[in-house]
Amino acid sequence: MSSSIPSELNKEEILRNRASADASLLNTEPEILIKTVETDDVPPSKSIKQLRRENNDTESFGVMDFLRLLGGFLGLFLMLSYYTTGTATFGYHTKFEHPRYIKSLFMPKVSLTDSQLASYDGSNPQTPIYVAISGRVYDVTNGKDTYGPGGSYQFFAGRDAARAFSNGCFNDPSQLTWDLRGLDEEKAASDIKGWQDFYDNDYRYWYVGEVVHEPLRGPPPSLVCKGYGSVPKHVKAEAETVTKNSEFE
Ligand code: HEM
Repeated sequence: MSSSIPSELNKEEILRNRASADASLLNTEPEILIKTVETDDVPPSKSIKQLRRENNDTESFGVMDFLRLLGGFLGLFLMLSYYTTGTATFGYHTKFEHPRYIKSLFMPKVSLTDSQLASYDGSNPQTPIYVAISGRVYDVTNGKDTYGPGGSYQFFAGRDAARAFSNGCFNDPSQLTWDLRGLDEEKAASDIKGWQDFYDNDYRYWYVGEVVHEPLRGPPPSLVCKGYGSVPKHVKAEAETVTKNSEFE
């Protein structure tokens, strides 16, 4: 009869046994656990959780420790990079450093006519600058010093001048066209592919869509390059400066 109702002494012994079993699981002192296992109706799992909470973080590696360590590494990385290269990324650049590029990934690709493309020529500072080559349109706004007003390659902005990308005939407006008729086909294809690869891969620029041209009409552009021939204006200006300076050397 007396064995069915545990005495106070038995109860304490039961608690002690349970605490020591829990303690061995948790690798801690039974005395600490006894304090948390107060009555028979408290399940052992609850007391383990309580104990974990109370004794928490004395030895375990928590989320905060991990974040602190990560922050430390990041700080070290930035300092080292800035000290050695003057940039935060060891001089490495990516398109993803431009918020406009990230935004463009979520936008549908454009499909423009030639006259729509013309409004992206850099004359409006609120509008992006686009360059097209054989139908592929690129955002080159990050190169506005080159393609914007006064830039040395401004003539490429807001149009598809694939022909001039191949023959370098920049100063004759009739050559600033996508019309490749009369050019060496193999050379033109390879030049154009080269420039498309350039705009696809350069971290400052990115592909935004296509320009859909009207069918070609009339005679092909002249095979003779007028103006400065195949030498771009700015290059001629640079060449003259170099010649003048070298006269005094
Ligand atoms: C088929 C002939 C050529 C084509 C299609 C061409 C095209 C280009 C383009 C598109 C850029 C801008 C690249 C960028 O966005 O960073 C550029 C830059 C440059 N090109 Fe040319 N180029 C040609 C020939 C030449 C020649 C013959 C010279 C000089 C001898 C030259 C000198 C330069 C210089 C100095 C720059 C950098 C300056 C700047 O961005 O204003 N290019 N070229």
